[in-house]
Amino acid sequence: MLNHSQTTDDLAPFGEDYGPGLMGEFAPIAREGEHHDLKLLKGRVPVDLNGAYFRAGPNPRFAPKGRYHPFDGDGMVHAAQFDHGRVTYRNRWVRTDAWQEEDRAGASVFDGIRDTLKGRPDRRLKDTANTDLVAQGGRVLALWYMSGDAYEIDPVTLETRGKCPGVAASGGSISAHAKVDEITDELIFFDYGLEAPYMHYGVVGPDGALKHFVPITLPGPRLPHDMAITEHYSILHDLPLIHDEEALKLGRHKVRFDPALPARFGVIGRYGAGESIRWFDFSPCFLYHVVNAWEEGDWVVMVGCRYMPERHADGSIDAQRTARNVAELQMRARLWVWRMNVRTGETEERMLDADRNVEFPTFNSRLSGRRTRFGYLVDHSETRTLQWYGIRKYDLDTGESLASWSDDPEHSFYSEPWFAAADNAVNEDDGYVISFQWNERLRRETLDIFDARDIGAGPVAQLEMPHRLPLGFHACWMAADRMKR
Ligand SMILES: [Fe+2]
Repeated sequence: MLNHSQTTDDLAPFGEDYGPGLMGEFAPIAREGEHHDLKLLKGRVPVDLNGAYFRAGPNPRFAPKGRYHPFDGDGMVHAAQFDHGRVTYRNRWVRTDAWQEEDRAGASVFDGIRDTLKGRPDRRLKDTANTDLVAQGGRVLALWYMSGDAYEIDPVTLETRGKCPGVAASGGSISAHAKVDEITDELIFFDYGLEAPYMHYGVVGPDGALKHFVPITLPGPRLPHDMAITEHYSILHDLPLIHDEEALKLGRHKVRFDPALPARFGVIGRYGAGESIRWFDFSPCFLYHVVNAWEEGDWVVMVGCRYMPERHADGSIDAQRTARNVAELQMRARLWVWRMNVRTGETEERMLDADRNVEFPTFNSRLSGRRTRFGYLVDHSETRTLQWYGIRKYDLDTGESLASWSDDPEHSFYSEPWFAAADNAVNEDDGYVISFQWNERLRRETLDIFDARDIGAGPVAQLEMPHRLPLGFHACWMAADRMKR
């Protein structure tokens, strides 16, 4: 077991010769563990907070063979389990097929995404399951951004149980950012790839079985990142971030942004036929993350973080810089609302907050696909990748920033927070917002718990973690009653 005095560098399993993506706050840790004795630094852990907060991220086990990208690092899940005021922290690698193969070899055998191309058998793409986590059917699924397998994780022990049978039955591929309707406990997912029809869409039931699966024809190979659901519909993304087809024919992998193309959102009934999807055109943009979506009469409303295209001095879109920044995870996003009328075909879009670069949204996921008033987002550094220095609560109707908190904006970074409803919650924001925080000045990792009704008051509880957690990607919350299913 690790002790509190161990610092980040004690835990870095290999040297600092692999670029900034594996150094400092990104350096991987070498061990898995379980800790019950977290030191309480501030406040009191709420007794009506019961369930677990999970966070995914890259944590390469072996030194990379070549150039490293954060999507290459073996997925590790960090979980804080809350039980009537007691907290247990566990961390464990996802036992992906690639992890097991490299475990047998005792070294990296895969190339990273910078050096691979899907479909080239001599350079296999490594599905690291390191990007996103969703909680459904009594399990947590670990997902990869470029579409891969859905690895089932035990929500308590974090052991990898295998692969979700429903996704495997579909042909085996699922993108990050599948959605869970917590009212029906269905998993709603998409995949995307280089071969026509370029996208598929499906629904998995609470029992893990495939309920629905259809092809979605896109105009060409695209790089969508997220999707959305409402009570009756799903919203799929066709964005002008595209694979260069000429380069693909030559065996090269080149992504470009085409400002002549619209951003298109396709609305399809939850169990709709592929050809029934209805596309709505909006101003060209990339979009990493949706906050939530819902229906208002004939309108389907989606709120998200619009990636603001880079611009030339004359105001026109700088396509090259936009594509490069997206690929390097440099984020400049604004809270945005897109509205689609499924009866008339009308569209509306509007920036909700012009001033702040906010991303990695969360909300009360019990209301996934239902109208929500509140969103919780991170303040994103304009210059530093994957470093989020504050947590902010928004009114999603007005775009008003209602409250925010940052412990130490110059030196500390939060992980993607997640909203956790309190036991017996009545109002939408009766609950907590949970995040890990790394303070590089104090060299201290904490688990911070905010009262969602009063983010601006700072954490109601803060616990010291036994070691640093490498900065990572997405998180989710699973309430205690959903863990037992
Ligand atoms: Fe994402």
